[in-house]
Amino acid sequence: MIYIDEIKNIFVLTTKNTEYAFCVDNIGLLRNLYWGEKIDSIKDYEIEELVEVSTNDPVFEITKEEYPVYGGLRYKENCLKATFSDNTRDIVYKYLGYEKSDDELIIKLKDKYYDLQINLVYKLYYEFDLIERKAIIINNSKEDILLENVMSAQLHIPYENLTFRNTHGYWAAEQQEFIQNVSYGKIVIENRRGVSGHNHNPYFILDNNATETTGEVYFGALNLTGNFKGVIEQTQYGETLVQMGINDFDFLYYLSPNEKFETPEIVIGYTNKGFESMSHNMHAYANKHIIKNSNIRPVLYNSWEAMEFKVNAKEQIELAKRAKDIGTELFVVDDGWFGQRHSIKNGLGDWYVNKEKFPNGLEELIKEVKNMGMFFGIWFEPEMVNPLTELYKKHPDWVYNFDNRERNLSREQLVLNITIPEVCEYVFETLDYYLTNYDIDYIKWDVNRPISEPGAKNLLKNERSLWINHIKSVYKIVDRLKKKHPKVLFEACASGGGRIDFGMLSHFDDFWTSDNTDAYDRLFIQNTYSKIYPIKAMRAWVTDCPNFLSKRVIPLEFRFDSAMMGALGVGCNLLKMSESEIDICREKIKYYKEIRHIIQEGKFYRLDKTLKDNDYYSFEYVLDDEVILFVFLPQSKIGHRHTFIKLRGLDENSSYEFTINNENKTKSGIYLQNHGLKIKLSGDYQSMIIRLKKI
Ligand code: GLA
Repeated sequence: MIYIDEIKNIFVLTTKNTEYAFCVDNIGLLRNLYWGEKIDSIKDYEIEELVEVSTNDPVFEITKEEYPVYGGLRYKENCLKATFSDNTRDIVYKYLGYEKSDDELIIKLKDKYYDLQINLVYKLYYEFDLIERKAIIINNSKEDILLENVMSAQLHIPYENLTFRNTHGYWAAEQQEFIQNVSYGKIVIENRRGVSGHNHNPYFILDNNATETTGEVYFGALNLTGNFKGVIEQTQYGETLVQMGINDFDFLYYLSPNEKFETPEIVIGYTNKGFESMSHNMHAYANKHIIKNSNIRPVLYNSWEAMEFKVNAKEQIELAKRAKDIGTELFVVDDGWFGQRHSIKNGLGDWYVNKEKFPNGLEELIKEVKNMGMFFGIWFEPEMVNPLTELYKKHPDWVYNFDNRERNLSREQLVLNITIPEVCEYVFETLDYYLTNYDIDYIKWDVNRPISEPGAKNLLKNERSLWINHIKSVYKIVDRLKKKHPKVLFEACASGGGRIDFGMLSHFDDFWTSDNTDAYDRLFIQNTYSKIYPIKAMRAWVTDCPNFLSKRVIPLEFRFDSAMMGALGVGCNLLKMSESEIDICREKIKYYKEIRHIIQEGKFYRLDKTLKDNDYYSFEYVLDDEVILFVFLPQSKIGHRHTFIKLRGLDENSSYEFTINNENKTKSGIYLQNHGLKIKLSGDYQSMIIRLKKI
């Protein structure tokens, strides 16, 4: 709900359980008044008149501004910095008015002298206790205005000494959670690569001594891929502020007369019920408003880990038959099927079917796959080119570069400048050709290197907008393809999980979570992923052992159970598997199909407070009357103890039936939640899935 006090200029936004309030104050500043639990009493708000603390602490510094600009006596972080054509580098805004609908409020600000307008947009997701914010900068003047910094929003949290959570990591070690106490100074998380990365993720989680189920948590995630920046700062004035938006690193944008510049949205939320309620709200929001294709995800087979570049029609057909036999529903051909792609050295850009590997074209394989009633998917890395390709020989000017600098290779490839309309069109047409002429259901869209030498002469004076224009082109291509080929699902991959963000999820359907397919490492990756991002989009494969990275040997059952926590896939070399292993695959996939609606669409519970070594890890999914419990024991200590797993999200007044160790049981919801379910596993890499049903 949106409430407005027209006299005092107070705006109160309420969701089911939360409230966000701000005002236009006595000197015309847009000032935050409150963010937290729902109050629902607009008449109680007062706007305290601000008086400077000292000449060193002027009003502008101490005001909790909704969208601080660079200008006047402000030295703090700003959301907008601009230079006008006469070189004035200072913004002074005034309040123009607002526009309102049922779930959206737009606050209009304008520079007092120049025709620069700032529209701040607040969109409410009442049921999910979330608000989306973004800013639209409009040049109504007759001259260019140079934008040097544009953030999506500033947020104020009325506490000090909070705890901040985000991810660090690197290739094959994505989603490693770090937890940091916030004190004075700034915490900056960012990306400068243009194509995301495996390190920080564009979200913030700040809590005030929260646990999974208790305590206050403030959080938000940016709808942007690539160069983002987030600043978390505990100020001198007893609060913590957060700013998120486009990274100002190597960013400049000349806004032409009549042009608008829109920031990505940041979706923000508050809960006093711990991290679990944060995740539930974010997952529900993502499933309803971000993910476009809500279908249950099929079980896929992909031979990348088993075969790498050694793909050929004969073996792929053999694999597809076995993949069908074990129950997978989507057969994906990964890297290596096109051009002269025998290794990382060549092929990217020459998107023709390799005749040596597929003498009868892709048609033969696709026909086999389709005749077996499976979906067909294929890998592309559309934003890239290897210098050895025909494409590069023909169009050396199609990559980002500076005239007098080397074009640095990474994974033997360069990044196509898809901000050039012709290049963007080439990428679209290439994929469109395949989707039109072949019966393809799934595209794995990969990107395996960041941008370097970011020269894009085509953008003229706006060359430094290439970081965001690149990703906008990606979004545009995928949106166009989806419009024309609506049944096709797109998987977002970037050397594994280098592009996991709401920006991607607004356009793509699945994430390749990590090239690290070690089932034990995955428990941690998946656990952190689940904080913000929805389970449905989390692709997880079962692969061969010893694992190519960890060299660990983990029983096939545990590997399946770990991967069944997301959108299941198989990446094993099925040609080498024994009959008994094939039987396990069959059985597990059959079971997954029975329970996947609960996994992909249910509420997810991280039952462990922390994932400690040598302990039971347990996770739960609840959808209506159905419950799935996963229990893992990675390693047994001497005579490992049993544990009592206290379930959550059950109906306390009902009973649940389930089978454990071949014994049928019935227990009340209240017993399972308070007393817990006794579990005893022994040995290393042991796991168990228990399915409960309310009666
Ligand atoms: C990246 C992906 C892998 C695979 C390879 C192919 O590393 O993450 O899954 O597709 O590229 O080259």
